[in-house]
Amino acid sequence: MSNAICPGKVWHDTAGHRIQAHGGCVFKQGKEFYLFGEDRSRHNRPDCRYVGCYRSTDLVHWRFCGEVVKLKNPDPKFFTENWILERPKVLYNRFTHRYVMYAHIDGRGYSIARVAVFISRTIAGHYHFLRSFRPLGHQSRDIGMYQARDGKAYLLFEDRPSGFRIVELAPNYLSIKKSICLIHQHLEGLGLVHYRGLYYVLGSHLTGWGPNPDVYATAKSLRGPWSQFRNVAPPKTKTYDSQSGYLLKIVGTRHTAVIYMGDRWNPRQLWNSRYIWMPLKIGGGEMQLPKPHCWKINIRTGTVSFPPR
Ligand code: GAL
Repeated sequence: MSNAICPGKVWHDTAGHRIQAHGGCVFKQGKEFYLFGEDRSRHNRPDCRYVGCYRSTDLVHWRFCGEVVKLKNPDPKFFTENWILERPKVLYNRFTHRYVMYAHIDGRGYSIARVAVFISRTIAGHYHFLRSFRPLGHQSRDIGMYQARDGKAYLLFEDRPSGFRIVELAPNYLSIKKSICLIHQHLEGLGLVHYRGLYYVLGSHLTGWGPNPDVYATAKSLRGPWSQFRNVAPPKTKTYDSQSGYLLKIVGTRHTAVIYMGDRWNPRQLWNSRYIWMPLKIGGGEMQLPKPHCWKINIRTGTVSFPPR
């Protein structure tokens, strides 16, 4: 079924290599979608961390654009040998005409808990590491990002002592402007979408690479108040053996689809982790992840269909 997205199946790029974009995000520019994520290829240099980038017009066929980040430990005293770079998220800043990437950067035991900021002149070019910091001084592990229509950008991050936070980025996106909301719920793998007058935030509980029942809440404003958190899928399925990571909104001429982009991690072979992408049932404050199976989307109309099994 070459024209469908089949969650959990091995997914190859147009050159026949496994797509390496874990914990990632999709950014749309013109008619093209760009997928960014952790490149966990086995042949990667052990002293570098990588972000892979892919391009597509249909969300099914992805052409590899290259490793947009190939970073050596930027501060070995700080981040130590087993440092990590996870969950890259990319936005375009229309005021500075730069692409800005945030990611979680950390050291052994995830004790450093910072964000890394990168900048690029082109969407699939080299992203230059600028610096790392703790947003407004808070611990930051898993991150998510959200860009509003007015160009304001928001960072969501898990702050272990308190829950998770939403902060607004400065106009150039390179630092934090102010705090928006602290949500006293310990969640990671954070995704945020605005759909028909409501914000929906989705995240997983803190069980490392192992899946758990992901939950969501809604609010009319990013500042809250946020609703109670509820399961996005039947809890015993543990989000169909996946962890949330990103919510992708596709606005078509007839329908608006919101796609759950999750990871089915394989911790012993991270390169072999799988992608669980599924259109969500969303509206009126409810969000449900259907049982994963193959699907297609007409990008122009936004219509989702399910080819016969
Ligand atoms: C998860 C997190 C992943 C990775 C993993 C390590 O909770 O979402 O991005 O950090 O822990 O155990």
